[in-house]
Amino acid sequence: MTRLKDVRIAKLRLNNPLCLAPLLGVNCIAFRLMCHDYGAALVFSPMIHSAGLVKADDAGRASMLEFVKEERPLAIQLIGRDPQVMVESLQYIEPFCDTVDLNFGCPDKDILGQKMGAYFSKHPEQMTRVISAVAGATDKPVTAKIRIGWDSQSLNHVAAAKIVEDAGAAAVVVHGRTTKQGYSGRANWTAIRQVKEKVNIPVIGNGDIWSADDAKRMLDTTKCDMAMAGRGAMGNPYLFRQCVSLIMEGKALPDQTTEQKREMLLEFIRLYGKVQPVKRFTELRQHAMWFCTGAKGAASKRLEISRAGSKEELVRIVKKEFSLKG
Ligand SMILES: Cc1cc2nc3c(=O)[nH]c(=O)nc-3n(C[C@H](O)[C@H](O)[C@H](O)COP(=O)(O)O)c2cc1C
Repeated sequence: MTRLKDVRIAKLRLNNPLCLAPLLGVNCIAFRLMCHDYGAALVFSPMIHSAGLVKADDAGRASMLEFVKEERPLAIQLIGRDPQVMVESLQYIEPFCDTVDLNFGCPDKDILGQKMGAYFSKHPEQMTRVISAVAGATDKPVTAKIRIGWDSQSLNHVAAAKIVEDAGAAAVVVHGRTTKQGYSGRANWTAIRQVKEKVNIPVIGNGDIWSADDAKRMLDTTKCDMAMAGRGAMGNPYLFRQCVSLIMEGKALPDQTTEQKREMLLEFIRLYGKVQPVKRFTELRQHAMWFCTGAKGAASKRLEISRAGSKEELVRIVKKEFSLKG
């Protein structure tokens, strides 16, 4: 059975066990707000490069810190490796966030080359300096997002999670894939359960939540404290409503009809226009394409949307395309 108790990350109390993963290039303000609205108890920002934040001028820094108070509870994620720089960057994010998450899982080549992100999956002991410095410098709960190892021959998730706990983190996020896997293959939920069995801080499980059933199964089988949805939520904030309904009330909600998807997308377009300080049409159009997933004739809808040149044209296309059968 899923446990229905409140979830706590140190002093932060959350009203359900569902959160939106950090997604670079996806989690704009409007998307985070909408995921909250549809039920995510906590949303994560995309990673912010701590050295970039510290070095930036005021305008550059403002562009890296697009946050609004309505989107709280919010976790802001930092990536870096120099504890001093990471501590220095805290002052810029603290006014906006409820928790600080540290990225030890990004498999991007450039990031690995800078010995950041998933580089630490090969050298988990090096996380200690970073986590303890950041946790010692802020009142906000500090969490760490890790992978389960560098490759399938060197799984080290339990040892890494213990390092995270011992260094003073308030929770650990476990993405159940190795660095070598990137985003492919199945996420290893057994590894998430093994971490849960061995650490005393809350465990947030991540990987392959595509439906409410998946979220419930992850919570039930791994006993993790929260389930984090990534790609399954792209273009589909409604996933959180389905998850909350199933997990908190035991009620399975049907998938949205194409008409309901159209309304959700139009709502997103309105919200984007209202809350994004800098409106990037290509970003809005890309979201609209993601929102086609699961709709009838998604491929042709996407193609039409990709041709839109303005917001007005986009709205016209969405209204027309989502009213067509098939
Ligand atoms: C487009 C994209 C951007 C991502 N950006 C980040 C990021 O900024 N920080 C991070 O820790 N993980 C990032 N991830 C990884 C996700 O947070 C998550 O761990 C991964 O997608 C696995 O979850 P899923 O199987 O539910 O998608 C990203 C993944 C994708 C697909």
